[in-house]
This record gives sequence, structure tokens and C-alpha cells, in this order.
Amino acid sequence: MDISPPVGALDIVQCLQQAGHQAVFVGGCVRDLLLGIAPTDWDVATSARPEQVRQLFAHTVPVGIKFGTVMVLNPEAVEVTTFRRDLGSKNSRHPVQVLFTDSLTEDLARRDFTINALAWDPITDTHIDPFGGRADLTAQLVRAVGDPMQRFYEDALRILRAVRFACRLDFDIESETWDAVISSAYLTDRLSKERVRDELLKILAVPDPGRGLWMLNELGILQRIIPELRGSERLAQGKRGAPTLLDHLIQTAAACPEKPLLRLAGLLHDIGKLTTRQITSIGRVVFHGHTQEGARIAGKVMRRLCFDSKSIAYAQWLVQNHMHQGEISRKVLRRWLSAQGETWIRDLLALRKADHIASGGSDAPALSKAEADLDAILANEQVLKPSDLAVDGHDIMKLLQISPGPAVGQVLARLYEHILENPADNNRASLLDQAERLWADKQHFSR
Ligand code: CTP
Repeated sequence: MDISPPVGALDIVQCLQQAGHQAVFVGGCVRDLLLGIAPTDWDVATSARPEQVRQLFAHTVPVGIKFGTVMVLNPEAVEVTTFRRDLGSKNSRHPVQVLFTDSLTEDLARRDFTINALAWDPITDTHIDPFGGRADLTAQLVRAVGDPMQRFYEDALRILRAVRFACRLDFDIESETWDAVISSAYLTDRLSKERVRDELLKILAVPDPGRGLWMLNELGILQRIIPELRGSERLAQGKRGAPTLLDHLIQTAAACPEKPLLRLAGLLHDIGKLTTRQITSIGRVVFHGHTQEGARIAGKVMRRLCFDSKSIAYAQWLVQNHMHQGEISRKVLRRWLSAQGETWIRDLLALRKADHIASGGSDAPALSKAEADLDAILANEQVLKPSDLAVDGHDIMKLLQISPGPAVGQVLARLYEHILENPADNNRASLLDQAERLWADKQHFSR
């Protein structure tokens, strides 16, 4: 595959060099290029100071001046960062002081992993690799630059990044770096929840998130991020291939399609089992109400990790409704289509399938039937919301000779239930007829 930098990014490097500065592509884009992966961002590192960069280009945004970063719009956005050394660390998050330098090697030395401490000069086509990054790419190793403990102390997010790169690239974590991750795991408590959330989502987005989740578990990080999982590694499940609840949760997450939030719901889907486990008088283990409890806990976990309310509602709905591999009626599908929409339903079916697979099952005919029913409903019917009823409260009051009150809403709710089952009845004549029949059975309504 021929991967070349965008013309605008190349032009930035050239302009900086022509103005007498050093300028190279650096970090993730060089790593990805060497791996034959198309980079998402092309970051430039330069000996030019931020104010010199701003003078050279017409359109710039000072996105991180304190750290030497200027965004150049040429026209695509490219981050140009002055070579720097980072001194000290505030809360394992930010350097206490940043010193600009003329040495590219010093700049590379402050970076997290050897595979990211690489630079490439596209004009002379030379690689700058003082820490053996290319050898580690070949050896498929994530290795910290220099002293791993120091690197993780400077920025604890690197602990999660190590796992992310290992599972995204299918690399191993080099053993000294691995030990340092274990010793530094406590530092992740200092990270902002938003950064942890984003990194967790990136780990869940890789092709095999199971490997990343197991690594997080083995490194003692998973249960720091989600303490609600504590005990899941001891809770016996008795499922084929998944002896503990944690096995089952990770396998379910891994069996979900490549949607990080859906996979998170998969990881949390049975979390309610930990607090609802009971033994009946005949010695059976039961988990009554675990879906409801699971949805509550999933909400707690996700609020702590600063997820937005829509994502939380989505995951809670999936957890709450994940049970049953049995038939889903068309009536239920129509209700969900109206309230939750197609994407959520498809994701729920995918979660149920993943749960089924992670429980040792193979095909799930009821789920395939639900998919076929959903396709048929979408192809042939209009999604009916309660507001789409062909009659309203005034019609009901007039027909039944009743005044405004709860009974009117109750009749309308029953009519909506009726059309979910019989969509063809959504016309005035049928619904008024149905309302009269319902009303005859008066004990169902408040008066
Ligand atoms: N970096 C670092 N420590 C961090 C974050 C980033 O040393 N905590 C350095 C690495 O050299 C990294 C570069 O900054 O390559 C750019 O960071 P970023 O864009 O976050 O990651 P990439 O390595 O580019 O990877 P990706 O974009 O695929 O996440």
C-alpha cells in the first residue's frame, strides 16, 4: 500500500526546513507508516519555537502553546510541536515545566514507548530512531523509552496506552515495562475520569477487545477502573468455557460487534449477579432481579466515568433487557422501535447473541427470527408512536361521555397496546369500536 503524507502536511515540513529549522514527522504517524497502516494524524515536531511557527504560516491556532503546540491549517489541520523536554510531573498528568530544546533526540526521549519515539524526515527520507523503535516494531513489543517507572509516573495514562497499543497492534508488552505497569497501576486513580473513559473505549474498539480486557485484569487495572467487577473472578458460573462470571463478561464483550459502547454493555451485562446471588431452599443458585440491578450498577459505573446521559441510557437499556434467548413478539419489537429505535434493537439482539455464544451456545434461532421480523416490520409498516393513534382524548371523551381524567389516558394507552399488536386497526372506526369494547370492561379503568 502506498501511504504518503497529505500535501499540506508535507508542505509544512518543507516550509519549516526552508526557513532554517529542523522539522520531521513524529510519533504515531511514523509508527503506523512503518506498519503499513494509514495514519489518522500527521504530527510534526520542529526546532522552531511556537511564535516562529505562527509567523511562518497564515492560518494557525495556538492549541497548546504552553506545551509548544500550534495547529497549522494548510488547509488540513496539522499539529506542529516544538522539540521539548518535560520536567517533573504534576499528579502524574502534566509536566511541571516544559523546556524547549533544539535536540530532536531529547524530544524523542520524553515520549512514552519506543515505537512512538520515532521520527521521519520526508524530504531526505531518513528515519530517526535513537531508542530502537523499529527493532521493537519488528519484535512486536511495546517497550517504554528509558525507565518505564519514570515514564508512567510522568503520565499515568501511558499505563492504559501500553495495553491499548499491545492489543490494537497485537504486540506483547516487554517484561520490564509490564512489571512497571503492575507497580504503577495505582497511579491510574489520579487520572481524570474522562481520559480513562476515552482510553477504555479505544481498548474496546480493537478487533480483539478480550485480550485487552484480560490484560487490564491481569495488570490489576480493570478493577481499579470498574471496582464493581470485584468478586466476578471468583463467582462460579458453571458455563461451558467460562468458569467464572468475569470469564463470561469478557467473553460476551469480545463476542459483540466492533462498537465500544455495546461491548461495554457486554462487559457489564451480568454485573448485577454479584449482588443478587441467592441459594434457594433446594440448593439452587438464583440471581433474581439481576438485570435491573445490573442496569443500576452500569449507570453508576458510567456516571463515574463521565459518560453522557444518552450513552448511559443506551447501556442501561441493553443490560436491563439482555435476558432471554426466547421469542420476541412483533408487538414488543414495534414498541421498542417506537421508543428506542432500530439501532438500539439491533444492538440488543447482537448483545443477546454474544451472551448466548459466551454461554457455550451456537445458533440462536429465536434471535434470527427476531431479526427477520424486525426487517419485515421496517419494510412493510410505519413505526407507530403513541402520538400516531388515529383518535385522541377528545374523541374518547365524546364517545364514552366522560370528563377529562386519568381514564382518558388509560383508554388511549390500551388502544396503543392494541395497535402495536394490530397495526392495521389504526383508523378511527376500528379504534372507536375497540374503545367501546374496552370501556365495557370498566374495572380496568379509574373513575
Ligand atoms: N505521547 C506520549 N505520552 C502520552 C501521549 C502521547 O509520549 N501520554 C507521545 C507519543 O510519542 C505519541 C505522540 O505523543 O506517539 C502522539 O500522541 P497521540 O496522538 O495521543 O497518540 P499516537 O501515538 O499518535 O497514537 P494514536 O493517534 O493512534 O492514538
